[in-house]
Amino acid sequence: MQFFFFLVSGGLVQSCGHIIPESPVLALGSNFTALCILNESCLDFGNIYANQIIWKIKNKVVPKEQYREINRTVSSVTFNDTSSLATPLTCNILADGQIEQNIYGITVTIGLPPEKPKNLSCIVHQKSKLRYPMTCTWNPGRHTFLDTHFRLKYRCFPDCIPKDVNNSCTIEDVQFFVNLEVWVEAANALGKAESDPLVIDPIEIVKPLSPRNLSVNSGILPTVLKLSWENQISVAVMKLKFNIRYRIIGDTNWMQVIPLISLATLLLLGEEWLESCLAEKDLGCWLTAS
Ligand SMILES: *[C@@H]1O[C@H](CO)[C@@H](O)[C@H](O)[C@H]1NC(C)=O
Ligand SMILES: *[C@@H]1O[C@H](CO)[C@@H](O)[C@H](O)[C@H]1NC(C)=O
Ligand SMILES: *[C@@H]1O[C@H](CO)[C@@H](O)[C@H](O)[C@H]1NC(C)=O
Ligand SMILES: *[C@@H]1O[C@H](CO)[C@@H](O)[C@H](O)[C@H]1NC(C)=O
Ligand SMILES: *[C@@H]1O[C@H](CO)[C@@H](O)[C@H](O)[C@H]1NC(C)=O
Ligand SMILES: *[C@@H]1O[C@H](CO)[C@@H](O)[C@H](O)[C@H]1NC(C)=O
Ligand SMILES: *[C@@H]1O[C@H](CO)[C@@H](O)[C@H](O)[C@H]1NC(C)=O
Repeated sequence: MQFFFFLVSGGLVQSCGHIIPESPVLALGSNFTALCILNESCLDFGNIYANQIIWKIKNKVVPKEQYREINRTVSSVTFNDTSSLATPLTCNILADGQIEQNIYGITVTIGLPPEKPKNLSCIVHQKSKLRYPMTCTWNPGRHTFLDTHFRLKYRCFPDCIPKDVNNSCTIEDVQFFVNLEVWVEAANALGKAESDPLVIDPIEIVKPLSPRNLSVNSGILPTVLKLSWENQISVAVMKLKFNIRYRIIGDTNWMQVIPLISLATLLLLGEEWLESCLAEKDLGCWLTAS
């Protein structure tokens, strides 16, 4: 940053001091100590000593009670609570006892460590006969005021890194019939936090595409309706359960047909008009006809 008080020797311009730590990232509410270290080579030349150091936050002088003269060349400043800090924090000296000169300044960044990500859940949305991306979402926790990176981790595969968001990630190609352990890691300059792991076989959480082309035909008998539809997920990949509901137009009560396993045709006895809704694992209701 700025360092205005220089010693010019042999054509070289050098700083008369520096602050450590340089550009710290600090946790809000923690304590903090910085040191201003004067360069020995400036001492005699400028006749400057650590007891002449004045610390400032922006343009405001930090109270002397917070300083400590460690030795002739080093002065420390301590803040019990970083919430009283701001940028820049500068080390200055009263040259000749009156002219204030800036020696060095640092940028301080104040934030919070990430919280443990919570409520991790995943769902596989079938996109086509062959595409089954898995999307996991979570609660990223409180705002940290810092650049915080999230990654969805799962054993034996490369991490899934969210794009432009911090609460979800989509794994394009997920494996079925294996137990995956997934968890979220949040990290910033102040630390790391991991969510509880979730162990799932992605086949268990597939939201299949809606059955298509539901058709309702009157059957051979006048009181029989024949329902047929086309599944978009192979019965060999996944066992589907179908719930069929129907109601008489204008009636508020639904009637339910006993769930069927992997059957795409149903003979339905009864009503002349029906509406139907098929659902699997209560994930949704995707097909209605009347
Ligand atoms: C202190 O002075 C020495 C030369 O006297 C120079 O090499 C060094 O870089 C200076 N240190 C700083 C922090 O400017
Ligand atoms: C400063 O914080 C550290 C840990 O964060 C603690 O051990 C130490 O006692 C604190 N010092 C003061 C003066 O509060
Ligand atoms: C002052 O203290 C610092 C840090 O404790 C040390 O590195 C340095 O050598 C000391 N300087 C003198 C002149 O005692
Ligand atoms: C900082 O904390 C110490 C002990 O914890 C206390 O003695 C001191 O007065 C506090 N300083 C300020 C400026 O609050
Ligand atoms: C996290 O899940 C719990 C239990 O399912 C729920 O009570 C809570 O509201 C959820 N929190 C958020 C932020 O979604
Ligand atoms: C997550 O992103 C939202 C929107 O960009 C932001 O408001 C929030 O602070 C972020 N949370 C964390 C923990 O980074
Ligand atoms: C099923 O419906 C889709 C559009 O939803 C159509 O493209 C396709 O040809 C239909 N298939 C049959 C067998 O009717």
